[in-house]
Amino acid sequence: MKKVILDCDPGHDDAIAMLLATRADNIDLIGVTTVAGNSELHHTVNNALRVLNYADVYDIPVYAGCSKPMMRDLYRLTGAVIHGEDGLGGPEIPAPTQKPEEKHAVDYLVDTLMESEEKITLVAVGPLTNVAMAMIKEPRIKDKIDKLIIMGGAIIEPGNITSAAEFNIYVDPEAAKVVFNSGVEIYLNTLDVTMKAVFLEKDINEMVKSDNKISKIVGELLIFFAGTHVEHFGFLACPIHDALCIGQIIDPTLLSHKKVFCDVSLHDELTLGETVADLWNITGKEPNIYMATDVDVDKFKTMIKTHMEKPYISKQI
Ligand code: RIB
Ligand code: CA
Repeated sequence: MKKVILDCDPGHDDAIAMLLATRADNIDLIGVTTVAGNSELHHTVNNALRVLNYADVYDIPVYAGCSKPMMRDLYRLTGAVIHGEDGLGGPEIPAPTQKPEEKHAVDYLVDTLMESEEKITLVAVGPLTNVAMAMIKEPRIKDKIDKLIIMGGAIIEPGNITSAAEFNIYVDPEAAKVVFNSGVEIYLNTLDVTMKAVFLEKDINEMVKSDNKISKIVGELLIFFAGTHVEHFGFLACPIHDALCIGQIIDPTLLSHKKVFCDVSLHDELTLGETVADLWNITGKEPNIYMATDVDVDKFKTMIKTHMEKPYISKQI
């Protein structure tokens, strides 16, 4: 059983990643931290809570984190277009009955990692503001992180916010640079794999028609999310970017990785937030990140479809 903390900005794919983690036999999701990204913080906190409660999960604490990037204003344009004004457009999901915890997400990350006897897997699928701030506040947490699995970046694939940059990295590039250079064991699951593992119309319709309420709501979320992607493909196809990071824990054969030196561009407008990987080892710099190189798409689709049919079994003792 892996102890996991999920840092996210729900967001349709964040929500599905969270549901997948709650249904995974080998994952003990001990906490969810939220950050501003796909929508403002008050929306991402509320979305995390209402998705968990909709899925009959009431015993996983949710923490509110940073309401803006470290050095910049929150970039709000794309989030609203892709995920809707409140960050979770589409199906009706009732307001949560659960409240967020009082503690700030950054303090929760620091306290939990420092107090834990075992190392914890940290999954970050939004802008890296909370993670970077926690590392700055208490650098010793780096030794308590087993793996840091990140959804972000684009190496061969073009970006999705600019031609050079992927959304999570672009929103807070300074935070990404802090994290990429932290020395922690990082797995970077970029658009290069998430844009391969897209759900097609038949996959989405199969879930929407399910009698299971979780499968159905995931299908309905994907219909909304796909609707904002359809102009890119000309047909209904929908990435579930963030869920791949949880999928990697469920089945490590889901993704292939290659260790490279990778850093983040900060200065020039054209390439701000670009994740630049030294694929030919020209810089001679020590590789610092396991970048994803391939994904078993059928395995991913089966994983999502089967897990969403499973009941929630609490692991909180
Ligand atoms: O670029 C995709 C990423 O940006 C995903 O994490 C999605 O939720 C958005 O946050
Ligand atoms: Ca996200």
